[in-house]
Amino acid sequence: MTAARQGGTPLLVATKIVKDYPSVKVLKDVDVSVAEGDTFAVIGPNGAGKTTLFKVLSGEVFADRGTVTFKDLDVTRMPEWKRVRLGFGRSFQVARVFPDLTTDENVVIAIEAYHRNAGQPVTRGLACKPSRETRDIVEDTLLEVGLIDKRHEIARLLSHGDKKRLELAMSLALRPRVLMLDEPTAGMSPSDRRAATELIAAIKERHGMTIVLTEHDMEVVFGLASRVAVLHQGAMVVTGTPAQVRDDPMVREIYLGSEPVHA
Ligand SMILES: Nc1ncnc2c1ncn2[C@@H]1O[C@H](COP(=O)(O)OP(=O)(O)O)[C@@H](O)[C@H]1O
Ligand SMILES: [Mg+2]
Repeated sequence: MTAARQGGTPLLVATKIVKDYPSVKVLKDVDVSVAEGDTFAVIGPNGAGKTTLFKVLSGEVFADRGTVTFKDLDVTRMPEWKRVRLGFGRSFQVARVFPDLTTDENVVIAIEAYHRNAGQPVTRGLACKPSRETRDIVEDTLLEVGLIDKRHEIARLLSHGDKKRLELAMSLALRPRVLMLDEPTAGMSPSDRRAATELIAAIKERHGMTIVLTEHDMEVVFGLASRVAVLHQGAMVVTGTPAQVRDDPMVREIYLGSEPVHA
């Protein structure tokens, strides 16, 4: 099976991506084509290169070779903060929030950083009282992710699951065109994982944005994804619908063992 698309306008396309670190060839000619409206999951064992691919797509690192386009615009060498302005929203495998600020201040900071010029790091805290519009977006977003009751809590005191929700809120508040989630349920209990999966599905339903995620939990993947791509030792081996990927003998062998995959 190839990465050929079955309809849908390509929004985010990576072609022949190569990325090496000194001791390891991480990505080997990886092709990805995410269509507008897709929920596109990249799966693969630990160390397969999922996070590195994410970084290349989002601009945190640049590929050694290959190209990345967004809406037909070449963004291969475009820094991350500029991609955010084009509509990239990203969360991380380990949540990155400002630990000493409250929940709502974190979302305000995300919005203010977005509207500030250039890619200046945010280190000084809140500049002034947020506008009515910003406060409305913060409230709406915290309601949406289920953190409204914890709006005044200091971020470092939040549970792991709530930190992930906060990080999601920080991306969502910018109304991204493509929401990128690196292992959104990593380290969660089964019930938190279910809640996070439902939340992502609800966000998709409400906003309709394109979502790209990596995930190792199959239940999460098959519950959310419209397309699944399997990365194995830095190479994209299969791309297809969840059913196609689940039934692919090579996928069973290299990634899931020979056990049948339970959806
Ligand atoms: N900054 C880095 N420097 C050197 N090696 C790295 C770096 N980032 C990732 N790697 C290596 O690249 C490989 C893929 O890592 P990663 O993209 O994090 O995989 P995954 O997210 O699928 O677990 C691993 O062997 C990892 O050790
Ligand atoms: Mg990873």
